Amino acid sequence: MSPGSFPGAEAALSSPSRFKTWNPGSQSHGRVCRGSIIVSGLALSHPRRSDSIRFLRRGKWRRSPLKSRLYILAENRVFTQDGANPVPDLDQQRQHQVYVPAAGILPLNLDVENFKGNSSDLTFKEARKESPFEQEAWRLLRASIVQYQGCPVGTIAANDPTDASALNYDQVFIRDFVPSGIAFLLKGEPAIVRNFLLCTLRLQSWEKTVDFYSPGQGLMPASFKVQSVAAEEDTCEEILDPDFGEAAIGRVAPVDSGLWWIILLRAYGKSTGDLSLQERMDVQTGIRMILKLCLSDGFDMFPTLLVTDGSCMIDRRMGIHGHPLEIQALFYSALQCAKEMLIPDEKSHQLLTAVNSRLSALSFHIREYYWLDIAKLNEIYRYKTEEYSHDAVNKFNIYPEQIPDWLADWMPDHGGYFIGNLQPAHMDFRFFSLGNLWAIVSSLATPQQSSGILDLIQDRWKHLVGSMPLKICFPAFENEEWRIITGGDPKNTAWSYHNGGSWPTLIWQARNHEKMIHGKKNSDAALLLFDTCIKMGRSEVAYEALEIMERRISRDRWPEYYDSRTGKFIGKQSRLFQTWSIAGYLVAKQLLANPEAATYLTCEEDPGLLDAFSCRISSKQPKKA
Ligand code: GLC
Repeated sequence: MSPGSFPGAEAALSSPSRFKTWNPGSQSHGRVCRGSIIVSGLALSHPRRSDSIRFLRRGKWRRSPLKSRLYILAENRVFTQDGANPVPDLDQQRQHQVYVPAAGILPLNLDVENFKGNSSDLTFKEARKESPFEQEAWRLLRASIVQYQGCPVGTIAANDPTDASALNYDQVFIRDFVPSGIAFLLKGEPAIVRNFLLCTLRLQSWEKTVDFYSPGQGLMPASFKVQSVAAEEDTCEEILDPDFGEAAIGRVAPVDSGLWWIILLRAYGKSTGDLSLQERMDVQTGIRMILKLCLSDGFDMFPTLLVTDGSCMIDRRMGIHGHPLEIQALFYSALQCAKEMLIPDEKSHQLLTAVNSRLSALSFHIREYYWLDIAKLNEIYRYKTEEYSHDAVNKFNIYPEQIPDWLADWMPDHGGYFIGNLQPAHMDFRFFSLGNLWAIVSSLATPQQSSGILDLIQDRWKHLVGSMPLKICFPAFENEEWRIITGGDPKNTAWSYHNGGSWPTLIWQARNHEKMIHGKKNSDAALLLFDTCIKMGRSEVAYEALEIMERRISRDRWPEYYDSRTGKFIGKQSRLFQTWSIAGYLVAKQLLANPEAATYLTCEEDPGLLDAFSCRISSKQPKKA
């Protein structure tokens, strides 16, 4: 078919720029715009006959495989692939967009009438050709899907055919599923996410005991497995078998699971526009149970959550017990998401008040006391200690001697970061990527602090990104410190695994914060890699870096983590075909094509909290001279 054989194509050819420069942010169709992506080409497909689409980009016709059916709106008409069947009378405003019915929401045989009448239920997708790496990643991600009673409910942690002992990598981990879930949401396939959220919700109220002791009610498992058990009359029955930490190595309760669950629930609502899930009574109860567990009274003096070592992504002893940044950033994010989703009624009234006051106390505490830059470091260096008073400068009695040797040289003149942990007489000065990135995503960091973190990453690119983004933490514990702090853990030796290893999955989180930085909405500077490179005026380097990563990660068979100071080696005990490495890459690619979708995860600064924050700052006791 020649492109000129129907009017939409002619229009596209005569003014191709019109088809490249639409800005999703400028489209305002109310709910219709939720999750919309405007194509940079004109997509063509027949709803019944085609399994691929043709689209016009840079004046050339290209073809891309298609899973769902596409409808094309151009020149106020709907076109099918053969150019026939133009359907007039479509809303002028909705021109030039490609609409894909979201799987699980609309019947597949959706016709134009349905489409016109019920467009708020649609997800928009870009007619973008996937690279061979993306295609491979999708194939692998789909192969990792776990079914329960005939429905997809999650993805296993790793699908490594070369590894005989799966340990618990054949389970669906809550935290690991988050990038998988986001990838499916961005693909317009939300059913698996919905099923996952409901299955794990059921597990939340499971009876659980560890040596005669029952942990808190709202606890979400670290992972679960679908087991086949014998039932009556020689039949088999599938059951969900959760692990709340009672079987996990080290018996650690996963504090992050419930927080991730809330974050994913909100992302589901944002991307599909289907708020009925979060409004269900059982789901509202689930949110409240998690919040109650996190907000319950204890002995704490700080608004940060007090947890044991290994209760998050770093699920082994790594000296992060106390108030680790990662948990605090996820906690802050989950509180904000929950606040948005909780239906205000009698039951939630008190809880919402508690959420609000915790949010402002938490942001004050982290912004004030976790932030480290060269000026603050200098202040700590000159700290007086043993100050007994309400107006102490050195509130946590930090001895300047604990400033590590590497830090003074490592800290750039511009920028800074949130330290890993804060306790009485203890600051963990290590840089933790997930906590810092999620502090940006959730607006826990101020805009200045967010830029400061980026400045630091830009400055310390070699150390934090190196040959494979992204270091889980920097630097590693070595020698005696490693022996004492990790307990001599052979998996966590210096620059390996949790102890300074490089984790490809972290790339999707890096990708997310773009919108929050410098107030740049819908900017091209998306991925952390991209953002920093573009700031350096070297965007071509950024794209090249992603390509290198793409080539390498596929060639290396999608490892879980990389070792060495710069992430050159595939991790010593790294699983291959690790699902969240695959999903993380896919999310990064999808978000790159559709930066606006980052809003499924990001939270805006609440102006009310800002006011509370400035009140606290101004009412602070005067400092000692
Ligand atoms: C490792 C990681 C943990 C992850 C699990 C499954 O234990 O430390 O974060 O959830 O593997 O991939």
